[in-house]
Amino acid sequence: MKKKMVKEDCATYEALAEVENIVVKPVVQDMYNLVGSRFNKDIEDGYYYVAGSVKDWYYEWDFKEFNPNIYSHGFHQYPAKFIPQLARKILRVFTDENSVVLDNFSGSGTTIIECMLLNRKKALGIELNPFANFMSKVKTTPIKSNILKENFSKIIELYSNPDYKHKIHDFYNIDFWFKKDTIKELSKLRTAIYDLGDVKVTDFFLLCLSDVIRKVSFTNHGGFKLHRAKNKINGDFNPDVIGDFEKVCNKNIKLMAQFYELVKDSKTKVEIINGDSRLEHKIPKNSVDFILTSPPYGDSRTTVAYGQFSRLSWQWISDETDIFSLDDNLLGGKNKINLEHEILNNSPMLKEQLELVRTICSNRAKDVLSFYIDLNLTLLQAYKYLKKDRYFVLVSGNRTVKNIFLRTDLIISELAGAMGFTTEKILYRNIINKRMPAKNSPTNEVGVYGDTMLKENIIFLRKL
Ligand SMILES: C[S@@+](CC[C@H](N)C(=O)[O-])C[C@H]1O[C@@H](n2cnc3c(N)ncnc32)[C@H](O)[C@@H]1O
Repeated sequence: MKKKMVKEDCATYEALAEVENIVVKPVVQDMYNLVGSRFNKDIEDGYYYVAGSVKDWYYEWDFKEFNPNIYSHGFHQYPAKFIPQLARKILRVFTDENSVVLDNFSGSGTTIIECMLLNRKKALGIELNPFANFMSKVKTTPIKSNILKENFSKIIELYSNPDYKHKIHDFYNIDFWFKKDTIKELSKLRTAIYDLGDVKVTDFFLLCLSDVIRKVSFTNHGGFKLHRAKNKINGDFNPDVIGDFEKVCNKNIKLMAQFYELVKDSKTKVEIINGDSRLEHKIPKNSVDFILTSPPYGDSRTTVAYGQFSRLSWQWISDETDIFSLDDNLLGGKNKINLEHEILNNSPMLKEQLELVRTICSNRAKDVLSFYIDLNLTLLQAYKYLKKDRYFVLVSGNRTVKNIFLRTDLIISELAGAMGFTTEKILYRNIINKRMPAKNSPTNEVGVYGDTMLKENIIFLRKL
């Protein structure tokens, strides 16, 4: 095997999986046949299927021509969201209306929403980010559009009243991130939304407000981390708070109307656990029929900082301060560890790649190992919840650390193999429309970039 793999290449990927003797079997014998009998509903819904043949649908994994912002999926941005079409395709094949489905990194709720749309029996989520859980709650709570329209008019009426008594919101460093006028306008809208008095409706509009927060703040709107953008602090930056809020509300009310029509009779029981997927939760052993998830691709410090992405929104819409330490508590958040660990015995690939990173920088090697130790804990929990013979599908990414191309796909396969899963298949898809950084700095040197995560892995595990 090559010692240094710095280039991502689909063909190489497939070849390596075979060379390295990972037991890769065809997934559920013939996915195509299985899909054939179950995809009819998708033909009627152009968001999920572009007219063609079943075969086209089977080969489609990139979903380049599909809009991911459909139904309540399109309410709000979130880093590294699933493409709904991808989640739907996989759920179609592996579940039916009697299935209990789990997503143990449920993020903004894509799997849960798709389970509702497909009327699955139960959709369970586990997620540590309180803001993501809030988002999932709003996105899975259908509300009639006339109720939303009436309440939207009320908000605008209150906001437009010069005598409307409202509380100026405050939190640590608020002036550092927002202009004084922006704070006033956001506070007025916030009070008007809270004054609506119906929790579900208030939450819906709080999420609309949240979607304008980054844009009207000094932070660099396109990134995940909180940095003040030079053009915003030095230039003539005059955010249009009410204009942006109106646009988001109109869009989300329309999306909700479409969602409502499809789920108003859905029987799916939704349960989202605000918790850490490394730990055991009250999900009975051997009770879950299928797990579909997408773990983070690495620790928050060096990949996606979910906590930083969520912080300003969460500070505006809630009074909780639980978001500050979030990034340290996500997978791989704490790297004060020893570079020897028992999981290295279960994954020769991890052992070898970790050694390559260690020879260049032992601190970065600690980041890497700490992430996989945590990921392994979440696999162990997932194993307990899943019924025997059932599938666990993970969508993950391989990333480059210190110029070493880390084979997360194969590392997951080996770690999972040691606990009693078999790898049925690993597929690779191009990331086209996912909100992800396409480039990172693999050596951590300023100005030195490497391509990262332009493909992602879909790993099909089965519990033996
Ligand atoms: C790739 S995102 C999932 C996105 C999701 N599929 C969606 O469509 O929105 C990974 C998620 O894992 C969460 N996460 C990271 N560590 C966690 C942990 N230990 N327990 C629970 N959730 C965690 C992050 O907060 C993030 O929301």
